[in-house]
This record gives sequence, structure tokens and C-alpha cells, in this order.
Amino acid sequence: MSDTKASPPAATETYSFRQKLVHWAVVVLVAAQFLVFDAIGRDFGRGMRTGDWVYSPAATGHILFGFAILALMVWRLKLRRDEGVPALPAAEPGWAATLARLSHAAFYLMLLAMPVAGAVAWFRQSGNAAEIHEAAATLLIALIAIHIAAVALHQFRWRSNILSRMM
Ligand code: HEM
Ligand code: HEM
Repeated sequence: MSDTKASPPAATETYSFRQKLVHWAVVVLVAAQFLVFDAIGRDFGRGMRTGDWVYSPAATGHILFGFAILALMVWRLKLRRDEGVPALPAAEPGWAATLARLSHAAFYLMLLAMPVAGAVAWFRQSGNAAEIHEAAATLLIALIAIHIAAVALHQFRWRSNILSRMM
């Protein structure tokens, strides 16, 4: 490999095309987990009750999309390390930057941990892992709501046009 990792990459003005692509792909996949493939819960409940583990379209879709999210999050971390991210808007209050860093880190943590908990629930028939997975799903919804509210705050109150960095 020819690239040297001597110094961190300079902050760029916008996220790279690949980073944008992964961001929006993950949004679509996460939405599908909640809106389309959440019916895996039915198959999981039946499996736990009767020992009959059915790979319905919902269960299969949920598992495939869940692992796709995991793979995309790993790739995304690598892109972040290799390409950097735009600096947080300097004109905004420091607490906003701190919250942004924290909430972005929380997304990475959650979306890396959720597929693992889901896989342990399904493949090792673990009710505890399923409960963790479900609690994480509730937390994730809250995080997404905060994230969207934060984008609106940047956009309309501080007018830092943050949305254009991810479009
Ligand atoms: C980041 C990726 C994932 C997200 C966002 C996600 C999201 C969700 C959501 C929203 C539910 C419904 C929760 C509820 O009904 O309260 C659910 C349930 C479930 N998911 Fe996932 N999931 C992901 C990955 C996976 C993976 C990879 C697997 C298995 C290999 C999996 C297995 C399950 C199971 C077994 C349930 C049913 C749990 C139960 O009913 O107690 N999930 N998931
Ligand atoms: C499933 C839903 C979502 C997830 C999991 C998610 C996750 C993330 C993560 C992890 C970052 C930080 C990227 C990094 O620095 O590495 C980010 C940034 C961003 N997201 Fe989302 N996002 C979601 C939905 C949305 C939606 C609906 C919007 C638009 C309203 C949005 C707009 C943005 C913007 C503008 C940034 C860039 C912030 C900046 O410039 O620093 N996201 N998102």
C-alpha cells in the first residue's frame, strides 16, 4: 500500500460522495428495518415458543439488511479515518459541537452493536439479547429524532447550511 498515515486528513468542506452515499443508504436500510422488516418479531416469538424457526421474507430481509447496515458502518468508519469529515461550523456554540460529536459517536456505536445483539437473539435464541435489541431500537428512534431536530436547528437558526454537506 502506498498511502502513509502520518497525519490525520485535513477537514474537507463537505462529506465525500462515498460518505454521502453510505449515509443515505443507511437511512433507507434503517427505515426498512422499522417499517417493513420489524415483523421478524413475530417469527422470533414463534421460534422461541415452538422451536420452529421460519425464514419468512420479513425475517430474511431483516437479517440481510441488518448485516448490510453493519458492513456499511464499518466501511463508513474507514472512510472517516481515511478522508476525514468537515469541521463543525466554527460560528456555533461549543456545546453544539460537543453534542454533535457525542450523537454521531452514539449512532456508530448503536448501529454496530444492534446487528450483533440481533444476531445473538436470532441465531442463539437469546431472549436477553432480543430485549437489548428492542431497547436499542427505541433509543435509536430517539437519536434519529434528535438528529433531525439538530439538522433543523443548524439549518434554520444558525443558518450554517449543514444539509448541503450531506447532499
Ligand atoms: C442496525 C441494524 C438493525 C436494526 C436497526 C434493527 C431494528 C429492529 C427493530 C426496529 C426491531 C423491532 C423491535 C420491536 O418490535 O420493538 C427489530 C427486531 C428484531 N431484530 Fe433487528 N435490527 C437490526 C439488525 C438485526 C440483525 C442483523 C438481526 C439478526 C441477525 C436482527 C434480529 C432481530 C430479531 C430477532 C428481532 C425480534 C426481537 C423480538 O421481537 O424480541 N436485527 N430489529
Ligand atoms: C436513520 C437515520 C439516520 C442516521 C442513522 C444518521 C446518521 C448520521 C451520522 C452517523 C452522521 C455523522 C457522520 C460522520 O461524521 O461520520 C450524520 C451526519 C449528518 N446527517 Fe444523518 N442520519 C440519519 C438521518 C438523517 C436525516 C433524515 C437527515 C436530514 C434531515 C440527516 C442529515 C445529516 C446531516 C446534514 C449530517 C452532516 C452533519 C455535519 O455536517 O456535520 N441525517 N448522520
